Amino acid sequence: MAQGVEGDAARPPRLNGLPSNPNLANNAKPNSFNRRQKIAQQRKSLPIASVEKRLVQEVRNNDTLIVVGETGSGKTTQIPQFLFNAGFCSDGKVIGVTQPRRVAAVTVAKRVAEESGVELGQRVGYSIRFDDMTSGSTRIKYMTDGLLLREALLDPYLSRYSVLIVDEAHERTVHTDVLLGLLKDVQNKRSASANDCPNTEKKQLSNGMLLEKGQGVWSSTLKQGQSRRFSTLKLIIMSASLDARVFSEYFGGARAVHVQGRQFPVDILYTLHPQPDYLDATLITIFQIHLEEGPGDVLVFLTGQEEIESVERLIQERLRQLPEGNRNMLTVSIFSSLPSEKQMRVFAPSPPGFRKVILATNIAETSVTIPGIKYVVDPGFVKARSYDPAKGMESLIVIPTSKAQALQRSGRAGREGPGKCFRLYPETEFEKLEDSTKPEIKRCNLSNVVLQLMALGVKDVIGFDFIEKPPRAAIVKSLEQLFLLGALTEDCKLSDPLGHQMARLPLDPMYSKALIQASQFNCVEEVLITVAMLSVESIFYAPREKLEEARTAMKCFSSADGDHITLINVFRAADEFLEKRKSGQSKEKDDKLLKKWCKENFINSRSLRHARDIHRQIQGHVEQMGLRIASCGDDMVQFRRCLAASFFLNAALKQPEGLYRALASGQVVQIHPSSVLFRTKPECIIFNELVQTNHKYIRNITRIDYLWLTELAPQYYSMQR
Ligand code: CDP
Ligand code: MG
Repeated sequence: MAQGVEGDAARPPRLNGLPSNPNLANNAKPNSFNRRQKIAQQRKSLPIASVEKRLVQEVRNNDTLIVVGETGSGKTTQIPQFLFNAGFCSDGKVIGVTQPRRVAAVTVAKRVAEESGVELGQRVGYSIRFDDMTSGSTRIKYMTDGLLLREALLDPYLSRYSVLIVDEAHERTVHTDVLLGLLKDVQNKRSASANDCPNTEKKQLSNGMLLEKGQGVWSSTLKQGQSRRFSTLKLIIMSASLDARVFSEYFGGARAVHVQGRQFPVDILYTLHPQPDYLDATLITIFQIHLEEGPGDVLVFLTGQEEIESVERLIQERLRQLPEGNRNMLTVSIFSSLPSEKQMRVFAPSPPGFRKVILATNIAETSVTIPGIKYVVDPGFVKARSYDPAKGMESLIVIPTSKAQALQRSGRAGREGPGKCFRLYPETEFEKLEDSTKPEIKRCNLSNVVLQLMALGVKDVIGFDFIEKPPRAAIVKSLEQLFLLGALTEDCKLSDPLGHQMARLPLDPMYSKALIQASQFNCVEEVLITVAMLSVESIFYAPREKLEEARTAMKCFSSADGDHITLINVFRAADEFLEKRKSGQSKEKDDKLLKKWCKENFINSRSLRHARDIHRQIQGHVEQMGLRIASCGDDMVQFRRCLAASFFLNAALKQPEGLYRALASGQVVQIHPSSVLFRTKPECIIFNELVQTNHKYIRNITRIDYLWLTELAPQYYSMQR
């Protein structure tokens, strides 16, 4: 089966000509009646459609159910609708479905709203951090797992939900793992409360549904002093991995059911030799498919937004050099921070005669199913979090995928017919891959998790019933970090008010601390902008062919003090531009103006818009907390002092030869070339991010005074060094 693609892959595509730029949205507008009919047909033909009754029965019979089914079988879109139709929301309760990724929550909610023929935000909605599309009438709610964890802070029994579905559990993100532990506990508490209730022996509801003991409904006639009674919480854990054992065992031998998928054969092709530049190999393979293979869309797995955007540009460049007859290819991308109106573009069918190339992160492995794919290009890498508890440093690294991921990726090519998967590494390398991905909880900084668990009332975080225990050292390190940030007291309780306030903000603890602390430095406005800008990837972009122009443009914003002030300058310049144009009347007009401004200034417009959204949302939280949004004006020393007081765990000192030593971890790091301080290299800095490629790079850096550290973070810097 395996065969080399290298011979052809080494041949560059033919070049010359001009681009054609078809607009996807204009090409895909079948009339709505046809579309509804088509959707109904698609739904009926899904593998899951034939087992609707059985599945509903299984949910009635089991409080916890594990559902395993191949990607595309219809789990995410159909099961919540089956349960809604079966009356699981009849008493006003909500069916909640959690997703590890924002994009999946949004796109699936849109699809399900369309399938159900309702407006998004009404019966079917989604809620993700910084974007809530639900209302009082929402009964099927898609959300990120992190968001449900936050809801539990306000409603520890998650009382509005009758069913909670943890989707994509095989991904084992840190939020999924914590959520599983939390839901197990909530379910036990609610069952205990429901079983307490004398009148839930058997109860006929108005809709004729028979509830058995343990399925009691909210008692609506509570007398004062009487304890609240909760209905049992139904839990469904959904996974695309065939190994349901780990979930079943964790939930006391819970029942697992398999949904048969449909999978056509996929021809797997490997390269003959390892590829030193996988992006180049990716590009060559895409054009090889385009010029030599039959019709069918191509799905390409890349590691992140930056990589996707640069491959997208390179494809456009090369496409322009092809003869006109061969330019019938268009690209669409999908990654987590993509603005939601852009996300749906991947689902639009390619215009007749065109080949669609979808550039995706591992989000397209199992979270979203895109129809029409026949070819998969898998360079074999994924961006992952990595954590060294001894050094207390988390970093993002690009690592090889696991075998399970490689199989999932190739499976995407065989959904609608036989397909081909091009793995851009030799077959011998496949054998060396790990079988499955290590759960994220074992390789990330746990400060956020620990803070959340403590805010949820978990006193002994080390003893918490995790599905798989994180390293003890990592928990201890997080407790130490939280203590140093002032979120915990000496006897390991959440401090009041700082710890509680930090837990309420939907941000990394260090960012929350900066925001709260900013009021003492009179710079809440500046930190608010900073935190929003740091929450998105790559604000600046520099296309290869216009590198010099881009650099000149960036200089207009750059501050000699560092990247944080530079980011503030960009944000404010955009604001001023819009103000001058007296816009603000319509969002569309603003967006259009902003896009043009971004283009002229080499700013990534989707990142900036996302940052502006986030800014608005965090501002809401900050106002709710009663913090005064003041500005330090021109006195940026105040702002930099605030950064030093909050990010002191990420301080670094200059070493010979332009390297830096991170003070907390002792690691030797270097300033990333994209930083405005890359050339000036100040003596003492704080940074926000560590990225490991072949070097250990730090990004988002600000110059500080070394003495500020002992003055502003004596709890850390006076006791050592
Ligand atoms: O969750 P699972 O992978 O089992 O499948 P799903 O996400 O429920 O998707 C079922 C089908 O719905 C897919 O095969 C897609 O064809 C379709 N779908 C779609 O067309 N557009 C979406 N936004 C989501 C799903
Ligand atoms: Mg799914």
